[in-house]
Amino acid sequence: MPKANVTFEKLGLTVTVPAGTRLIEISEKIGAGITYGCREGECCSCTVGVVSGMENMSERSVLEDKVLQENMAGRNDRLACQAQVLGGDIVVKA
Ligand code: FES
Repeated sequence: MPKANVTFEKLGLTVTVPAGTRLIEISEKIGAGITYGCREGECCSCTVGVVSGMENMSERSVLEDKVLQENMAGRNDRLACQAQVLGGDIVVKA
């Protein structure tokens, strides 16, 4: 199974996880502290900035895109409860 290396910049930790894992699951497991609420892509409380490796993540769904836009999130922001890592290297601001 493909793996992804995900670096949490503020925490200073890189972990290797199976492709398909959502950012929020990784954050919870290692204690990176990304806050969340609904876990369903609706409340926007889990927004996290992606420093690099956006091409190694799942595309934004229509719902994620809408919620991020409504909350004036930036181009490099993702909802951690929705975004899945697909492989390669990814760095997030958390
Ligand atoms: S936890 Fe609500 S949008 Fe991610």
